[in-house]
Amino acid sequence: MTEPTKSSFYLTTPIYYVNGEPHIGHAYTSIAADVLARWQRLDGKDVFFLTGTDEHGQKVEKAALDAGIAPQAFADTVSKSFRDMADAMGVSYDDFIRTTEPRHKEACAALWRRLEAAGQIYLGAYEGWYAIRDEAFYGEDELIAGPNGSKLAPSGATVEWVREPSYFFRLSEWQDRLLAFYEAHPDFIAPQARRNEVLSFVRGGLNDLSISRTTFRWGVKVPRSDDMGDQVPGDPAHIMYVWLDALTNYLSACGFPDETAERWHYWPANLHLVGKEIVRFHAIYWPAFLMAAGIAPPKRVYSHGWWTVEGEKMSKSVGNVVDPNALVAEFGLDPVRFFLLREVPFGNDGDFSRRALISRMNVELANDLGNLAQRSLSLIARNCDGVLPAQGAHTEDDTIILSAAAALPGLLRAAITRCAFHEALEEVWKVIRAANGYIDRQAPWALKKTDLARMADVLRVLVDVQRAVATVLQPFMPGSMDRMLTQLGVPAQGRGLDDLATPLPAGTQLPAPAGIFPRHIETAP
Ligand code: MSP
Repeated sequence: MTEPTKSSFYLTTPIYYVNGEPHIGHAYTSIAADVLARWQRLDGKDVFFLTGTDEHGQKVEKAALDAGIAPQAFADTVSKSFRDMADAMGVSYDDFIRTTEPRHKEACAALWRRLEAAGQIYLGAYEGWYAIRDEAFYGEDELIAGPNGSKLAPSGATVEWVREPSYFFRLSEWQDRLLAFYEAHPDFIAPQARRNEVLSFVRGGLNDLSISRTTFRWGVKVPRSDDMGDQVPGDPAHIMYVWLDALTNYLSACGFPDETAERWHYWPANLHLVGKEIVRFHAIYWPAFLMAAGIAPPKRVYSHGWWTVEGEKMSKSVGNVVDPNALVAEFGLDPVRFFLLREVPFGNDGDFSRRALISRMNVELANDLGNLAQRSLSLIARNCDGVLPAQGAHTEDDTIILSAAAALPGLLRAAITRCAFHEALEEVWKVIRAANGYIDRQAPWALKKTDLARMADVLRVLVDVQRAVATVLQPFMPGSMDRMLTQLGVPAQGRGLDDLATPLPAGTQLPAPAGIFPRHIETAP
């Protein structure tokens, strides 16, 4: 008999521009994606989790020039910072793609050729607005008024007037097919508010999209073509539009165009996780390119909100950019991961403040969860020779808390599938708070003097509840939950969701309990 094959789950972060060092906003997306990847693995899926860096285009070229370093050397350094950031944040990526890699450039050329063969590309000239910061073209009607009568992109980025020969993608032909696609796949764009924005933008009509530039060199060259008659100006004069280049990364990592490649079966991606400012590229251009090239579009694009810092937009000029490495050095990795996903409903904007982080850490981690573990495990250490008690007969109070714990995997699966991380965590904390109520009501420290057998039953219930809690929290706080599960006597190979159905053997010697979440005491500056 052959083993049933695991169903696969392919998810991606955006690939980050290497024009500047990573900050907490980048760490946020990567950590959220990591929680999903770890959850899907825990749930038995064959996961392919991709992250990486977007290294071409004018924005990066300009940053390299400003730094007085050649673009490739500059990209090498900053790309490494992003990889280090992912490693430092515990991001369990399976591949880190760089758009300067040969495998990626080959995939870009192959996608271009397919679009060309499908009659979707023509040569023309672009004349209009371009924002380097967004690497985006804007229509006159989209611009907003800036200072001194100037015009700005809707994002606030400076725009410049561009006039140059350009290849175009026939995006205008895709309006109806995109609308039909959104209709047939109501979950393709989430949350709903973002879906509505995309729908109204597409309903408003689409212009053909400029997909090459000729006024700078840092990018993937447009492949030479013989099929374009006398219009061919020597295509290597054209550099691919950086968004066509960047979006292709999701295919390159699967081995495209080699459909016999080991990873090709992961396509189409289950989820592209992105910030709200890049939804248009992922939810309009990307499925249009793919459908035009005869490739299945991804299943879902989920866009999350933006972090401000102490009420202000994060920016180098304000000097309030939060460095995730410094944060982890001060508070520890798991409290930071927990805070980012707990504080703000995913999809909404949020504000980062030290006070809020410290409060979550002290109240929810140190008090609610840390104390629960410490109280129950130290009673086992002192009164049960440090040995896991057997499961006893259950009272109604026991059954209530045990069933709440047993419901966690199902509740979390449902919430995490919707990227509702804050809801998932709230479900877990409901059980943690209930377990603290249970320990207070049952008072095992008092039972020690009156009913030793009942005391052991209560402590065993508490271990079983915490085992479920720590198991489902692993994707959020992998390091601390590893320590907690070890203290609860759960073997390393028995920490999957399915393993919760098998009771822990009584009589296991538990390690001496040690605090998992220290309180953070703010020292005066
Ligand atoms: N290179 C493009 C993406 C190409 S994907 C094919 C890009 N890069 S970026 O470096 O600007 O990263 C943008 C992403 O970083 C956002 O979409 C978001 O995921 C994350 N964030 C950057 N700043 C952020 C905040 N202030 N808050 C939350 N997330 C933020 O766009």
